[in-house]
Amino acid sequence: MQLTHRPVISATGLFTPEASISNEELVASFNEYVERYNSQHADAIEAGDIDALQPSSVEFIEKASGIKSRHVMAKEPVLDPEIMSPRWDERSNDQLSIMAEIGVIAARQALERAGRDAKDVDAVLCAASNMQRAYPAMAIEIQQALGIDGFGFDMNVACSSATFGIQTAADYVRAGNAKSVLVVSPEITSGHLNWRDRDSHFIFGDVATAVLVEDAAIAPAQHWDILSTKLKTVFSNNIRNNFGFLNRAHPDTAGNADKLFVQEGRKVFKEVVPMVAQMIIDEAEKLQMDPATLRRLWLHQANAGMNRLIAQRVLGHEADDDESPTVLDTYGNTSSAGSIIAFHSNNDDLKDGDTGLICSFGAGYSAGTVFVRKVA
Ligand code: COA
Repeated sequence: MQLTHRPVISATGLFTPEASISNEELVASFNEYVERYNSQHADAIEAGDIDALQPSSVEFIEKASGIKSRHVMAKEPVLDPEIMSPRWDERSNDQLSIMAEIGVIAARQALERAGRDAKDVDAVLCAASNMQRAYPAMAIEIQQALGIDGFGFDMNVACSSATFGIQTAADYVRAGNAKSVLVVSPEITSGHLNWRDRDSHFIFGDVATAVLVEDAAIAPAQHWDILSTKLKTVFSNNIRNNFGFLNRAHPDTAGNADKLFVQEGRKVFKEVVPMVAQMIIDEAEKLQMDPATLRRLWLHQANAGMNRLIAQRVLGHEADDDESPTVLDTYGNTSSAGSIIAFHSNNDDLKDGDTGLICSFGAGYSAGTVFVRKVA
């Protein structure tokens, strides 16, 4: 009889929407909106009653964030200066919800890569920044679509949802309550982004990821040992979204910008970098590991500058793309999915015994670290 259960990552999956918006396309649409707004409100601007809107720029976006394009589920309405928000036909209750649909695609890929049959999975966690409805849980719909006999629930810790999901899944495995758990992160962030806000209109993109966490006893021969998981939260209003069931005003309505994503980007940058770097260093120390020996960092993908600084503090030198790969340039910030995309797309070349770190951080504040070691 096996007495201890050891959680590992068996495989990951990724769904990337076909449509992509370049900075050039995004800025052209935004600046058209600004021109129309300023000419419609010319008198009030002239009288000093309201401020003219300022145009955005491709150069600023690339320099400030490292983002060059982002994938979206609905390109046309986002770029239409009269709409500037994603739109899709409402689906009936008999149809798969849009979040479940993309989550299922990512989950199927993870299952396939692990050679796992859905009927052998025990639980589904839908871990994402936004859920498209209150209930039934997205996770249960995903569970049903995959044909999983077990349980599922949703969890939201903003950009850290996926790493919090991994620790939760790992804890179920450690406790012997599950042998195989899917952590699915469908992030349709285009829905919470204010595409009319110059400070943030370029930040987010849509995607879905899946991570299959399993007991080592049933995992495929090639997998990732989970050496440790560590979570941290510290309350902050610097990234906030007030949308919720206690307010009914549509976020598109004027004066309701706080019902979409808002942030004090500079403060976030300053406060989160040291918090996360220290958390990684402390956890490495607990593992009696020199953080400089980490072969690769798969960091949260919010801002290239933040990642540069965190990697430098952790590794003790400026990290190159091989040590700290970025997917920001093509995906933008995909909230909790970012570090998982980075991991999914950049781990094949690592060798047996190589160690790495999946790390996310964001609203809450929240941060999660998952130290892993390749078994190949
Ligand atoms: N185009 C052109 N100029 C712009 C602009 C745009 N789209 N957006 C802002 N600016 C201007 C500002 O008005 C400001 O002008 P000023 O200096 O005359 O006041 C200047 O550029 C600098 O703006 P600021 O917002 O301070 O930029 P920044 O260098 O801090 O970069 C972020 C902005 C958001 C990219 C950056 O702060 C960041 O990524 N922070 C962390 C965000 C994060 O991780 N969030 C987590 C979300 S999950």
